Parts: sequence; structure tokens; C-alpha cells
Amino acid sequence: MTAFRTLDQADVKGKRVLVRLDLNVPTENGKVTDVTRIERAAPTITELTSKGAKVILLSHFGRPKGGPDPKYSLAPVAAAVAEVIGKPVAFASDCIGEPAEMAAAAMQPGDVLCLENTRFHKEEEKNDPDFVDKLAALGDIWVNDAFSAAHRAHASTEGLGHKLPAYAGRSMQAELEALGKALEQPKRPVAAVVGGAKVSGKLDLLGNLLDKVDVLIIGGGMANTFLAAQGHPVGKSLCEPDLIPTANDILAKAKASGKQIVLPVDAVVAETFAANAPSRVAALDEVGPTEMILDIGPRSIEHVVSELELIKTVLWNGPFGAFEIEPFDTGTVEIAEAAAELTAAGKLVTIAGGGDTVSALNHAGAADRFTYISTAGGAFLEMLEGKALPGVEILRAK
Ligand code: 3PG
Ligand code: MG
Repeated sequence: MTAFRTLDQADVKGKRVLVRLDLNVPTENGKVTDVTRIERAAPTITELTSKGAKVILLSHFGRPKGGPDPKYSLAPVAAAVAEVIGKPVAFASDCIGEPAEMAAAAMQPGDVLCLENTRFHKEEEKNDPDFVDKLAALGDIWVNDAFSAAHRAHASTEGLGHKLPAYAGRSMQAELEALGKALEQPKRPVAAVVGGAKVSGKLDLLGNLLDKVDVLIIGGGMANTFLAAQGHPVGKSLCEPDLIPTANDILAKAKASGKQIVLPVDAVVAETFAANAPSRVAALDEVGPTEMILDIGPRSIEHVVSELELIKTVLWNGPFGAFEIEPFDTGTVEIAEAAAELTAAGKLVTIAGGGDTVSALNHAGAADRFTYISTAGGAFLEMLEGKALPGVEILRAK
């Protein structure tokens, strides 16, 4: 593996340093609910400010549709960054153009500025060269500390590396070292847990994942598409009918290769997506047309826990249910607790990743006992699949 350029090689004093972070953190009513990604980013920011750099933060937030949308403003997240680093963070209302240029021009060495959501420009996701130029004009050096967005070849995660001297931030460096070690030769049998609500873009990679693991445990929104593929009614549940053929292919591939896929065997359903909404445990064939599957049921929990007892390594991305609203966090919390106990007893290596996953494991009080927690979800899964990550490749010393 070619070495990466890190901050050890960067001369940043007095320079404008564009730092790509992943500030795509969970929020509720405009408040950040889990600061893990910000805490992981803090050492890079602090090292750069203490070395006299002008630190300009870049990030996406959510999936806005290519234009400004107050719902996806980074302003509240910038405030949370200021709290974590214990230093003021200025904010510019656009990541390019006059607001960004004026705010950058006003900076002194040691200052921190956060620019508005890069995805407010559709050119970001297209890695558009003109947009890259506009971003590049704001800095002298680019530091990529967004491992969790490194599977995206976007302007701010990859394009900038073609225009400016590029370096890995400390969190990027730590993730690459830790995951590289953990994924190279995992203790077998290995299981992957894949869940969560971001189904498209993840479901299709499960096929490749099957080549690398012995057991694939599927939960959350992801499971519903598989249940639908097996002919079960899913009512109003999150489900991607377009992906049913893909789900069927994955089930067939598992059968042909003797790999095991673990799906829910029962569900907790409700008619509304709200905390403490009236709910019931349903058998898979009993989900009504107006009901939504919001968690896995008690028999499913037992089943997953018994699987964890048989394996040696679990790679976990995505919660089992709508963990952010009670009581639909039960499946995730109980399985996380079982995994944490097995880890503490030395029986299981637990590696988890993903914004929602980390937040769910913190909520369950299990994160501290896990072997390693990555900030990355999708990037972690792609690394697991054996894919090259564009935001990492660009950092290799040429
Ligand atoms: C994540 O939260 O997984 C990363 O920030 C990437 O977000 P994306 O899946 O919207 O590109
Ligand atoms: Mg994610």
C-alpha cells in the first residue's frame, strides 16, 4: 500500500487550509444529537490552528436536492464544532463566491471558518471542474479528514486533491490504520450486520459483501425489501420495490455459495412514525396494509443474538429499527448490549461504523465496549467489499 501524505508532511503556517470534514451528523429540531464525528475531527482542526493555519471547513450535510435548503444548513453544526473545539467558528452562507471569499479574506492565522453545505451546489456531487476551481481558489492546501465520505468522488472529497497539495487529516489516518488492521485478516467466522434507512446504494453492495463474510445479518429498512422479495406483506414500511430483483439475486447467491443470510422472523409494527406510537408484535405474514415495520421483533432479537454467539468477528453498519424513537430502539439496543458483553468477555471482535450506527450504539451504552468504532458507514462497507475509495486514493503519495 502506497503511503499517504499526512499532516506530518504539511507546512501549514499562515496558509489557508481547506479541511474536508464529514459534518453529516445526526440532528433533531436543529440540534446536533451525536457529536462523535465532530469529536473525531477536532484533533485535526486543533493541530492546524495551533500551527498557525487559517482553517476553512468544508462538508456536506444530508442529501439536499442540489440547491440551498434551510433544513440542511450547516450553521447549527458549525456551532456544535465551536463547542467541541472550544474556539469560535465563523460561518459563511455559501461555500463559494462572495460570502466565502469575504469570510476567508477576514481570517487571521489560527482562525476557523465553516462554509455552508457543499451539496447546495449540484456541481459538488458531479465533481464539476469549474466548481472545484472555485473551491480551490479559497485555499492553499487541502486536507481530507472525511473518511466517512471517501467513497464519494465529489468536488470536495476528491476533486480538490487534483488542484491543491493534498494531505490526510488525523482522523482519516486513524481510520485507515485501524480498519486496515481489522479487515486484513479477521477472525472467522465473520458476520456483517447491515441495517438502517439508507437502502439504495447499500443494498446492491450486499452481493459483494457476501464474498467476504460467512454470515450476513440484515435489519432495518434494508430488511423490508428482502421480506417483500420473499412475498411477505410490508404495508407502509420503508421498502424499495425496484430493488426486489437485486434482493432476490443476493438471496440466490447466498444459497449457491452456502453463505447464511439472517433476516427478521417477526416485526414490531405501528401506524405512525412517532415516539410511543401504539405498536404490536406481528408475525411476518400479519403486517397490515396501513402498518409500518419500525423494529425487529423479540424472536428476531433472540435469533440474531444466538448467531453472534457462533461467530468471532462482527462488522456492523446500520441499526435494526427506528432507534431514534422509543420503543423502536429495542432491537438495536438489545443486540448492541449482547455484542458488547461478548466483546468484553473476549469472545467477539466488534467493529461498527456509520453515523446512525455510532449514535445508536452510544444510545445503547454499548459503544465503549466495542473493539473499534469507525465514523464511516457507506465508506466502511465499500472498504469491506474491497473497493478503492476515491477520497483515499487521491491522498496516496505519488
Ligand atoms: C454518511 O453519513 O454516510 C456520509 O456522510 C456520506 O453521506 P451520503 O451517503 O449522503 O453521501
Ligand atoms: Mg451514514
